[in-house]
Amino acid sequence: MTASLDDRAASCGLSLSPLAANVGCRIDGIDLAAATDEQFSVLMAAFGKYGGLLMREQELAVEDLVGFSGRLGTLDHAPLTQVGRTAIEGFPEIYLITNLMDREGKPMGALGNGEAVWHTDMSYLPSPPDASMLYAREVPPTGGNTFLCSMMAAYDALPEDLKALAGRLRIKHDATYNSGGYVRQGMVEHSDPRKTTGTFHPAVIRHPETGRPALYLGRRRQSYVEGYDLDESEALLDKLWGYATLPENTYEHVWQVNDVLLWDNRITMHRRDSFDPAHTRLMWRTQIQGSGAPKAYAQA
Ligand code: OGA
Ligand code: MN
Repeated sequence: MTASLDDRAASCGLSLSPLAANVGCRIDGIDLAAATDEQFSVLMAAFGKYGGLLMREQELAVEDLVGFSGRLGTLDHAPLTQVGRTAIEGFPEIYLITNLMDREGKPMGALGNGEAVWHTDMSYLPSPPDASMLYAREVPPTGGNTFLCSMMAAYDALPEDLKALAGRLRIKHDATYNSGGYVRQGMVEHSDPRKTTGTFHPAVIRHPETGRPALYLGRRRQSYVEGYDLDESEALLDKLWGYATLPENTYEHVWQVNDVLLWDNRITMHRRDSFDPAHTRLMWRTQIQGSGAPKAYAQA
């Protein structure tokens, strides 16, 4: 008999507390800078099960965050800042998510202080990142909360006929806009989702480690169901999105400094509230490279 995850956690000094009914789990008792192999293996099992993990009160140097992130896979390098350098000197893996401006008034990181709508990170790529994490360095007194939703629960919530239909479809994930509504570098704006740059992925994918099905939508804007007339595509997407972010399948995270929030980009989506630009919000972010193209649940 295999020990339950909670037992395994307890045997290496960890405790797991689900954050919401259907997504997210807090892990207590871990120091991400010094996690043992056994602790890391429990963390990864919890990650597959819950889709999102929260570790609080982490005292991490940049090296520690890069070191821990690197245990999950190969790290992507952040795009260069507007002034053409890495966000933190010597650490090309660190992205800044912040509303801070440099001396010339240029953004030092991504997303500003506005809302970021529900999305999966960079799913316009053929092999989107497997996971991303944020380490809170400075947070505003209110606002800027981050929400996660389970796309496994979203799939489970679909009526049987919609599950069967979605299982046969591919959806185009548009590259034009980021979640803050900004046009990505090098992209031309298009109002017709059939004509934009992007990648088709199966609408229902299989998590490579757990084997569980998840609805895979990316983001709503400029999304398109392959082979459909535009109005039919819009109607079907609206229907699927109606199940994607049901309140019972989401978790709202209110940040504290030193929180690490990690999400599996294949089985969750996330969004962020806006916040008062008079306050600073600063996150160090890492992103784990895609281990492969998302596979259809039916064929994987
Ligand atoms: C991201 C993202 C949301 C946030 O880093 O990919 O969407 O809460 N961030 O800053
Ligand atoms: Mn994101």
